Amino acid sequence: MESLLITGGAGFIGSNFVHYVLEKYPSCRVVVYDKLTYAGNLDNLRDAAGDPRYSLVRGDICDETLVEEVVCEHEIDAIVNFAAETHVDRSILEPGSFIQTDVYGTHVLLEVVRKLGLQRMLHVSTDEVYGSVTDGSSVETDNLLPNSPYSASKAGGDLMCRAYHVTYGVPVVITRASNNFGPHQYPEKVIPLFITNALDDKPLPLYGDGLNVRDWLYVLDHCEAIDLMLREGQDGEVYNVGADRELTNLELTQTILDMMGKPSSLIQHVEDRPGHDRRYSLDSSKIRKLGWRTRHRFEDALEGTVRWYTDNRWWWEKLKAGDFESYYHEQYGTRRVLADS
Ligand code: NAD
Ligand code: TYD
Repeated sequence: MESLLITGGAGFIGSNFVHYVLEKYPSCRVVVYDKLTYAGNLDNLRDAAGDPRYSLVRGDICDETLVEEVVCEHEIDAIVNFAAETHVDRSILEPGSFIQTDVYGTHVLLEVVRKLGLQRMLHVSTDEVYGSVTDGSSVETDNLLPNSPYSASKAGGDLMCRAYHVTYGVPVVITRASNNFGPHQYPEKVIPLFITNALDDKPLPLYGDGLNVRDWLYVLDHCEAIDLMLREGQDGEVYNVGADRELTNLELTQTILDMMGKPSSLIQHVEDRPGHDRRYSLDSSKIRKLGWRTRHRFEDALEGTVRWYTDNRWWWEKLKAGDFESYYHEQYGTRRVLADS
């Protein structure tokens, strides 16, 4: 595939993927198509800006006419879709934009792939569509039981992919990954929020009892899985991408504080997130059989991430001072600090 449309390529995972592809495939051209919402950030792409193989279009994936124009103009072979509203807490405050982008927008991309006969669409999804998993791990054939407006919207997008494959034979592959971390992640998600708060000796707001479990996947391991599935995944199939690195939020927080040499007294227990899923866990044997595995050790990748946020205040300070500030106030102005913290 010589020409990729990377939707949502100015966000966290998408921008990491752009750099990954430009480095790995000397003859590949990439077009980033991004609405540049609060989460889209051209600072994430500034290292690609001078590369003649890279171009950027500001646009909404819900705008079918523009997507179609860009695909034709750049002779696109395949779409890799990262574009989404992605933050669970925001989806609780304002679900509408999630439904619009994550369901309707996915449908628009599928429609363009169908109409123009593109070679493939890789749709990036999440373990959250399976809902909370008490025991064991989710396999790709499990029922989808999403609990938040975010995960329900992502599940809707996944089901549109399935329907377009079954009904029209659209060559779409879905990946469902666990929680990612790494450089360039917007500081509303737990790891960058806690690192940047700790750097400024501010409290780390840990939801509820802190015993919710997430599986932590380094973003470059995720990029490798997406690249492999784009090229070698089977049409219509779903592939889980997990790191087998499950931690409670409390364990994760303590690990970050230890790495940074900061005291546990920074942890502040706050009221829980409504509908907070207790645990996600993926069985990734299907993608492992195709040769993928994580290549980054969790502790090394987390240390590298702490270092990146320490060295790149210019990147996150302005984000936390801007839109984030009013969002954060809306969240935490009403979120009760629990008495025992
Ligand atoms: P992000 O919020 O950092 O980036 C999303 C990007 O999409 C931004 O650049 C934003 O401007 C763009 N965008 C939003 N709405 C758009 C629209 N209507 N049209 C065009 N562009 C639009 O998200 P991320 O963490 O990089 O996640 C990327 C994808 O990976 C998402 O689909 C998400 O559901 C999925 N995912 C994320 C994680 C994770 O832990 N971050 C884990 C599994 C799956
Ligand atoms: P988050 O990074 O928002 O990802 P997701 O909700 O998609 O898993 O949150 C990861 C976990 O951390 C989740 O269990 C909620 C918790 N959390 C906190 O305890 N405090 C916070 O301030 C945030 C943002 C998340």
